[in-house]
Amino acid sequence: MEQQEKKLLAAKASLDYVKSGSVVGVGTGSTVNAFIDLMPSIMNRIEAVVSSSRQSTERMEGLGIEVSTLNATGDIDIYIDGADEATKHMHLIKGGGGALTREKIVAGASRKFVCIIDDSKQVGMLGGFPLPVEVIPMAQSFVARKMVKMRGQPIWREGFVTDNGNHILDIHNLQITNPLEMESRINQIPGVVTVGIFAHRPADVLIVASDKGVRAMGH
Ligand code: 5RP
Repeated sequence: MEQQEKKLLAAKASLDYVKSGSVVGVGTGSTVNAFIDLMPSIMNRIEAVVSSSRQSTERMEGLGIEVSTLNATGDIDIYIDGADEATKHMHLIKGGGGALTREKIVAGASRKFVCIIDDSKQVGMLGGFPLPVEVIPMAQSFVARKMVKMRGQPIWREGFVTDNGNHILDIHNLQITNPLEMESRINQIPGVVTVGIFAHRPADVLIVASDKGVRAMGH
């Protein structure tokens, strides 16, 4: 099965988690795009929608879906988003699409986080995928030096500006044996806006699509 077919399967499986009257948070990326394209069929169940990126907002508005703001809705019932890597503990690396800060805010404000992935994203240990770190532009080199001290190899995502006007460093070759500790440690570096480890607020449900079908873990 093609990877895009698996993404569509995972997105379809997540629809059942959207209960009637829900405020829905919508993540970013190609897996979430499959979810967005299915949203018109469940709009009768959705009270309001909050987006994690301009990209997702534009896609939803293109389908005639009205997008609200987190300030207007208050807490979110359910957040649907993809990931770049996921462990069986539901710890994630996110930010391949550069939307990690707004994604972390929306995830943090959500009662339930349903993560939709294909089986290529499942890992035993995080860090094979270069870890995205959003930084204030003036702190970019400073943060990069700190990451080298932590044995990572930072690469500036050149030409990319986040929705918040910041830069991204992709940190290669990190072995993230303790995601909780590393998330806190990187977050504390001055100039770091967000690190793409989602361990303090992990997914609640992990929907994994593979050649064998769809499997959901958690509740
Ligand atoms: C965007 C993200 C995405 O969830 C992640 O990159 C996965 O994307 P895709 O569904 O395209 O594989 O964190 O910032």
